Amino acid sequence: MSARRLPTRAIGTPMDRLDGLDKVRGATTYAYEWQVDRPAYLYPLQATIAAGRIISIDTAAAGAEPGVLVVLTHHNAPKLADTGDGELAILQSEEVAFRGQLIGGVIADTSEIARHAAGLVRMDYQQRAHDVQLRADRDDLYAPELLNAGFETDTAQGDVDTGLASAAVTLDATYTTPMEHNNPMEPHATIAIWTGDGLTLYVSTQGVHPLRAAVAAAFGLDPQQVRLISPHVGGGFGSKGRHHADVILAAMAAQLVPGRPVKLALTRQQMFSQVGYRTPSIQRIRLGAEGGGRLVAISHDVVEQTSRIKEFAEQTAICSRVMYAAPNRRTTHRLAALDVPVPTIMRAPGEAPSMFALESAIDELAIACGLDPIELRIRNEPDVDPESGLPFSSRNLVACLQEGARRFGWERRDPTPRARQEAGWLGGTGVAAATYPAYWRTGSAATIRVGPDGRYGVLIGAADIGTGTWTALTQIAADALEVPIEDVDLRIGDSALPAAIVAGGSAGTASWGSAIVEAARQLRARLAAEHGGVVPAEGLEVTAAMPANPDTERYAMHSFGAQFAEVRVHQDSGEVRVPRLLGVFAAGRIINPKLGRSQLLGGMTWGLSMALHEHSVLDPRFGHVANQDFATYHIAANADVGSIEVAWVEEEDPYVNPMGSKGIGELGIVGTAAAIANAVYHATGIRVRDLPITLDKLLTQGLKAG
Ligand code: MOS
Repeated sequence: MSARRLPTRAIGTPMDRLDGLDKVRGATTYAYEWQVDRPAYLYPLQATIAAGRIISIDTAAAGAEPGVLVVLTHHNAPKLADTGDGELAILQSEEVAFRGQLIGGVIADTSEIARHAAGLVRMDYQQRAHDVQLRADRDDLYAPELLNAGFETDTAQGDVDTGLASAAVTLDATYTTPMEHNNPMEPHATIAIWTGDGLTLYVSTQGVHPLRAAVAAAFGLDPQQVRLISPHVGGGFGSKGRHHADVILAAMAAQLVPGRPVKLALTRQQMFSQVGYRTPSIQRIRLGAEGGGRLVAISHDVVEQTSRIKEFAEQTAICSRVMYAAPNRRTTHRLAALDVPVPTIMRAPGEAPSMFALESAIDELAIACGLDPIELRIRNEPDVDPESGLPFSSRNLVACLQEGARRFGWERRDPTPRARQEAGWLGGTGVAAATYPAYWRTGSAATIRVGPDGRYGVLIGAADIGTGTWTALTQIAADALEVPIEDVDLRIGDSALPAAIVAGGSAGTASWGSAIVEAARQLRARLAAEHGGVVPAEGLEVTAAMPANPDTERYAMHSFGAQFAEVRVHQDSGEVRVPRLLGVFAAGRIINPKLGRSQLLGGMTWGLSMALHEHSVLDPRFGHVANQDFATYHIAANADVGSIEVAWVEEEDPYVNPMGSKGIGELGIVGTAAAIANAVYHATGIRVRDLPITLDKLLTQGLKAG
């Protein structure tokens, strides 16, 4: 199937978002905004200890407030049918597993009353000592069975110690990244409605079908009894791709107020305890190279955290399995299970922290070898996927580096640190590579129906989390049907539509698009074979699952990129500015250049944010994130961003899928932080191996003395 190419008339055109006008007019409906009859409002109760158990809850004062309907606690909570997911199994006992865990809620006629009354609930606890600090020298680190997305925990080839011993140049450095939190502008929000024995959820999610499966299991329902509606999502970067307990709490609450829909929107503060986060990571990288820069050993050992109640093991070393050739290699992941919320996927889980460490280390190695960092990368470009031995379906990292160098003016760079000084500012530039797997996940199906009016209804339970799914899938459908886009009516974001995989792993468009292409192929074949190419009066409908792609077993499939950064560091204050970023990517065919550019711009902006700002500060005394708002959790704002240029190289990949596209939702964040860190080194001569790069780290390492 892989050789069959779609015609591309709509694909590749920079169409405006089909939902764009509605969005700017406020005409798109988000989860919390659906008009429902006589809604009740839920305000959560959260544990104020990090470990222990609830001894008593006094709800009398809250319950006596006018307008309060019910106070939900573990005493009156519905028993869940399945408590296998320790994150979702809330209110099933008096145990508290982390500070901020949901332990109840107040349901009232207005959100204000619910919130006020929640403050009147009194709780007594029996605390036990909590353990919330990740350290590499803990004696209880363990190897998970598998990592997120099914990656192997450890890999090894050859012998890194022998390789390192034989190397002319070696590097042994530890890089650390902090806890960071997902914060889409639209917080997690749900309206839960029980009808008969069924449940309807208007919910902000990256996948109606995966969430439906989790909710149905928790409440012991048949999935057909649960309907999820989510046509528009105000951002989702992983937290809405996994299931969190807020949805369970809303559905439980709605069971206690029969006939009333229950609305729950998390506050910004609650987002910092309820919906996961990027685990902090401690990454030791050891590299060994011949004098000419050829790597003989790559070792990447990761320590990170999970929660005691549920394991999440981020795949933080995986990029070191793919990026560079070397005969001796090793990657490991070890976890500490702590009294903390469950970490989760967050834009490029694994890759974003992985490539901060690896690409900083490669920069350090290049300096140690006296080589240009681009040249060092080119010298270590593998012929095949280094660990699997499979050929790449396409790999254009070198083209990205070279095109980026040309656009950025890299050849004019003097590699000497601190060589550029101007009016109190030190200037520097840096480069890093990016990579992301081109996932292609089965489990999606599409229905296409054509009526005698010649209009094509395309139905799939896909999600648009701001990425442009409404538009991109319409473009793909139009080309697969060989009709103008105006003839296509797409419907997504509803579990009543054919099943679709989560919008995650940058795999959505490739996977849903492949299902649509298959349904279109079958519809056209039936029209031709059974109806002589003429749409019958009663119309025609076909449902098809996305076929398997045997090429995924034969080829290693990844996208690549090159990130370039220019920074200025103030000599006295240590303030870091980033006047210029350039990203050049190789991600197959870009379905819609306007949407694609937006995705990559957003990813790079987040990479800047990761480099300089984002840091959830866990207070070890209490086990909570102290900076749980946008005043204190810094995110790159417009004023932090200078010029960002996004480009891509032409890439024909006949193997990935019928569109020839690779995901771009996550690629843009990967490598940006390393490019900035490398530029900061070039500007100052100071290597910061601990994100974010705040001015204190520069000032305490002798910024002024240099
Ligand atoms: Mo993305 S973190 O895989 O939703």
